[in-house]
Amino acid sequence: MKDNIVWHEHPVDKSIRSYMKKQRPCLLWFTGLSGSGKSTIAGAVESKLADRLQHTYLMDGDNVRHGLCGDLGFNENDRNENIRRVGEVANLMVDAGLIVLTAFISPFKVNRECVRDMLKEGEFIEVHIDTPIDECEKRDPKGLYKKARAGQIKDFTGIDSPYEAPEAAEITIKNVDISVHDAADIVITYLEDRGYLKPAEINNAALELS
Ligand code: ADX
Repeated sequence: MKDNIVWHEHPVDKSIRSYMKKQRPCLLWFTGLSGSGKSTIAGAVESKLADRLQHTYLMDGDNVRHGLCGDLGFNENDRNENIRRVGEVANLMVDAGLIVLTAFISPFKVNRECVRDMLKEGEFIEVHIDTPIDECEKRDPKGLYKKARAGQIKDFTGIDSPYEAPEAAEITIKNVDISVHDAADIVITYLEDRGYLKPAEINNAALELS
């Protein structure tokens, strides 16, 4: 199908876009059970980055499923496709020079590794929001665990559909007895220590094109 399609290199590339944004683009991939706190912590990280005038975009599972992935459900094939689409869009946004944050359960390791492989070394940062299922179920912010236990939702992650926890996430946050502020700071410190929040190196040859 792709035999007659040739990749076109454009003069303004990722290095120029990153240089203008004074940052090293990356994808912070938040994964964890429903109710684990992914969206809340990702939102707090994005606020802290906005305070520092960094350029970001946050994609959230519940929101994306209203539009881009509105045609997908929660069986294995649909979850695979959900993460594939989100990975592709996030990759484009990283190419645009943004620090991208995604908050999806993304329960299958193979899907998360596919997204990692789409990106360059150091661009994919897996953030495991590691909240025990009993705690998520106790919090049950959307009342979905209750419905799943009552058999009103099927394929619910952690109840009748598996969650494969990351074995070597770049960042793991035990989201119990920690404030949202402190949890977000763990991510900010990671980015700061590794130079993501400073201008990336520029490809001079590309700058001379115009
Ligand atoms: S994923 O598994 O494909 O990554 P995603 O993060 O997009 O899931 O969506 C998860 C959100 O959808 C949950 O936070 C919850 O609000 C809602 N949801 C509805 N049905 C299910 C289900 N069967 N399993 C998990 N979450 C569900």
